[in-house]
Amino acid sequence: MSDTAVSHDFSKLPHLIARHPQDPGSLIMILQEIQREYRYLPCEALKATAEALNVPLSKVFSVATFYNAFSLVPKGKRVVRICTGTACHIRGAALIQDQIENHLGIKAGQTTSDMEFSIEVVACVGACAMAPVVLVNDKYHGGVKVNTAKKILKDG
Ligand code: FES
Repeated sequence: MSDTAVSHDFSKLPHLIARHPQDPGSLIMILQEIQREYRYLPCEALKATAEALNVPLSKVFSVATFYNAFSLVPKGKRVVRICTGTACHIRGAALIQDQIENHLGIKAGQTTSDMEFSIEVVACVGACAMAPVVLVNDKYHGGVKVNTAKKILKDG
C-alpha cells in the first residue's frame, strides 16, 4: 500500500477550472475534471477551486467527501472495484476479492506502491444478472471466477 505523496504538474489547474463558468454551480463538474486528470483531488486543486469559484474551502471539502466518485487520496491507474452486493456475494465475491487482494498484495481500500492498482469494494453496481461482477476502471467484467480474476487485471 502507498499513501506516498505524489508530485503533480499543477500548471494545468487554472486551465481545467477556467473551462467552466466561474460560479458555485460549476463545483461538481470542476471536481470531476480534476479527478479525471489526477485520479484524485489534490489539496492544491481544492484550494484553487474554492478561490476561483469564491466558495468556502469547507464547502469544497464537503462535496469532495460526499460523493464516492471523488477521492482525496491518490489512486492507482487501474481501480479494481469488486461488487459485494447481495447477488455477487451469493456467487462468491468474497473469494474473488481474496484472490485479487492476494495477487496484488494489497487489501481493499489500498493502492499498490507502483500506483498501478487500487482495490475498492462497492455495493451493487446494477449488473446483478452478470454476478459476480468486477469493474476495472469503467469496464464491467461479469461471471468472474476465482481462476479468471487475475486475467481481468491483465486485460484491464
Ligand atoms: S449485487 Fe453485484 S451487480 Fe448487483
